[in-house]
Amino acid sequence: MSQQHLTPLFTGVREHAKKDPIQFHIPGHKKGNGMDDEFRTFIGENALSIDLINITPLDDLHHPHGMIKEAQELAAKAFGADFTFFSVQGTSGAIMTMIMSVCGPGDKIIVPRNVHKSVMSAIIFSGATPIFIHPELDNHLGISHGITTDAVSKALEQHPDAKGLLVINPTYFGVSANLKEIVDISHRYNVPVLVDEAHGVHIHFHEDLPLSAMQAGADMAATSVHKLGGSMTQSSVLNVKEGLISPTRVQAIISMLTTTSTSYLLLSSLDVARKQLATKGHEMISESISLANRTRQEINEIPGLYCVGPEIVGSKAAFDFDPTKLIISIKDLGITGYDVEVWLREKYNIEVELSDLYNILCIITFGDTLAETTTLVNALRELSKLHQDQIELRHTAEVNVPDIPTLALSPRDAFYSETEIVPFHESAGRIIAEFIMVYPPGIPILIPGEIITKENIDYIQENLAAGLPVQGPEDQEFQFLRVIKEHHAIR
Ligand SMILES: Cc1ncc(COP(=O)(O)O)c(C=O)c1O
Repeated sequence: MSQQHLTPLFTGVREHAKKDPIQFHIPGHKKGNGMDDEFRTFIGENALSIDLINITPLDDLHHPHGMIKEAQELAAKAFGADFTFFSVQGTSGAIMTMIMSVCGPGDKIIVPRNVHKSVMSAIIFSGATPIFIHPELDNHLGISHGITTDAVSKALEQHPDAKGLLVINPTYFGVSANLKEIVDISHRYNVPVLVDEAHGVHIHFHEDLPLSAMQAGADMAATSVHKLGGSMTQSSVLNVKEGLISPTRVQAIISMLTTTSTSYLLLSSLDVARKQLATKGHEMISESISLANRTRQEINEIPGLYCVGPEIVGSKAAFDFDPTKLIISIKDLGITGYDVEVWLREKYNIEVELSDLYNILCIITFGDTLAETTTLVNALRELSKLHQDQIELRHTAEVNVPDIPTLALSPRDAFYSETEIVPFHESAGRIIAEFIMVYPPGIPILIPGEIITKENIDYIQENLAAGLPVQGPEDQEFQFLRVIKEHHAIR
């Protein structure tokens, strides 16, 4: 019989707390007794009673052999993996583990250019050389999709010695590639496939959603349980299939990247989220899909708005689509996605997942009901009326996304090079030594080692002027950028 209704970790931690032991160990707040009253009252005694540390009865995430091991084994069964490692360092920690498990200094890793910054951080830490694949750009929406099987074949033909291929599946916007075929191609070269599954924890549990990494036969997947799977923020899992990957190496690396003070609140929340997904996930996700589809249809009846649906599937990089993502193109209203984000916040107390120059993204999960989506639709109706003149004027507005910059130095060499500061507006032609990205989604506009272009400067300026959260440089005011120092002949 399936054991998925059990929660060995949450149950074990709770039973330990119930014994009310006298604690001469950290955390020093001692079940909340030593904590600020206001916070203790707000957060509650139950939560504080299980805010514990890895004492012997509670197992140890760094050497699991008891309740954490059992919980990870149940998770592996639920996710179709051979091994599951719990992460309290977010999906970023799981992604860094995947890359550092397969790459050392000088090793090649094939990655799409539109990766999350944690991928680039791991490339810098490991000293690996990225071989970039151009993601497919959706010129209508102004967003990047996944990578095509043709591009993967070409990259592997040219770099059969790569130590890994990283795929984002599905993307932040819910678009997925033909992962099964990508895995088959990569395995012909014995190259392991590492999947950034930050936005796909739920897809494993419903047949109407894209194939999950484990279903497609990928070797590793960093899967954000906290994003869409019902666990607490920062908790995540790393799923592993044995064969091209050594699970003992993965355990060693994840341990190197993880705090020794692992939160039992986060770990317990992973245990219960897994139980919920495995036992009730299908039914709950069915409801989320219906609610999202109904909302999409209503939004598509509003003049000037377009909410992306299954018609997006068809291009080589858009092989499948997660309907619980509501990508709402607002460009025909003559305002930016950020303007809409602010208006929804101020007028309707609605917070969206992200906005960019042309879109807003709202996610529907099993935490939503018709009441919330109705408020969203009503708000969007009002917004459309407010911008009616623009809709009549514009019809189909253009999007502008800069080309991918040229990489002149490896990101690690650039990061550790001798650098200097130059004015932002005079930086075209120079090699950047820092990251620049809009977060969310956290995809770099520039990474260390790339040559800055005038087009990049204009695009950054456009995002800043729109009020979008452009981040990365030491100088948060964007007056200056750190670039690789140039050495001129002495006169
Ligand atoms: C595509 C992608 N990968 C990885 C991450 C990192 O996840 P986490 O915030 O759990 O570290 C994110 C977060 O936004 C993401 O969007």
